[in-house]
Amino acid sequence: MDRNRCSTAPQKIGVGPSTALAYLDPHYWDERFSSEEHYEWFKDYSHFRHLIHDNVKPNSSVLELGCGNSQLCEELYKDGITEITCIDLSAVAVEKMQKRLLASGYKDIKVLEVDMLDLPFGNECFDVVIEKGTMDVLFVDSGDPWNPQPATVTKVMTMLEGVHRVLKPDGIFISISFGQPHFRRPLFEAPQFTWSVGWNTFGDGFHYFFYVLNKGRRSTDSKGCSKGVDMPSMCLLQEELENEDYIFRTNV
Ligand SMILES: C[S@@+](CC[C@H](N)C(=O)[O-])C[C@H]1O[C@@H](n2cnc3c(N)ncnc32)[C@H](O)[C@@H]1O
Repeated sequence: MDRNRCSTAPQKIGVGPSTALAYLDPHYWDERFSSEEHYEWFKDYSHFRHLIHDNVKPNSSVLELGCGNSQLCEELYKDGITEITCIDLSAVAVEKMQKRLLASGYKDIKVLEVDMLDLPFGNECFDVVIEKGTMDVLFVDSGDPWNPQPATVTKVMTMLEGVHRVLKPDGIFISISFGQPHFRRPLFEAPQFTWSVGWNTFGDGFHYFFYVLNKGRRSTDSKGCSKGVDMPSMCLLQEELENEDYIFRTNV
């Protein structure tokens, strides 16, 4: 991520920043996390727990990208998935997460200050890589979603290549996202990846996508296997219109 972009953290309006471009600014996240204890992007674990259970075995080693101040890692741990490494670019998020986990007895969960575009892990060392709303950050200045800016595509491909590299040969990448399949599939299905691409949806007014990419399982025709709807209808609840996800969604 270019640390020089948007170097002045924008003013917050209501629950979110005045422009979604703020989400590309590391200063924005540091400032936000210094005063915010918990914010769960999209939905909390209870809404997609069944999908985790369908896809993640309890003894899996898991890498979470962009943990922020989410409770996802604790929820995974409570469900028996105890070998977890969380990363975030924000030093503030990392420090606060380390303290929170230690204080609440989750001392086995590792939290590291790491850029997901430059993963410092060896090849094939995780069973699962998971992210919720973190890859979507890379899309906030993508321009036309049908034809994203080359700079966006470069960053996303760097991230995906890193994820693919650190996954074990039969590992899975779970991406929980606003991004609809017709925008994400061209990237997920780039020729260098050996994973299959499938997805489910969850949520009420907003639909969120729960992508599951199984490394080494790419079919010869490289088509995704949709288990949900490709273009969900939108019927927003008032609380969702007031939610910060709305600002985010208008851009990704
Ligand atoms: C939209 S928030 C999602 C937070 C959390 N995953 C959740 O579900 O609540 C995006 C998070 O990604 C982090 N982030 C942004 N760019 C990153 C990067 N290049 N590498 C690692 N983390 C990044 C931000 O600091 C922030 O914590």
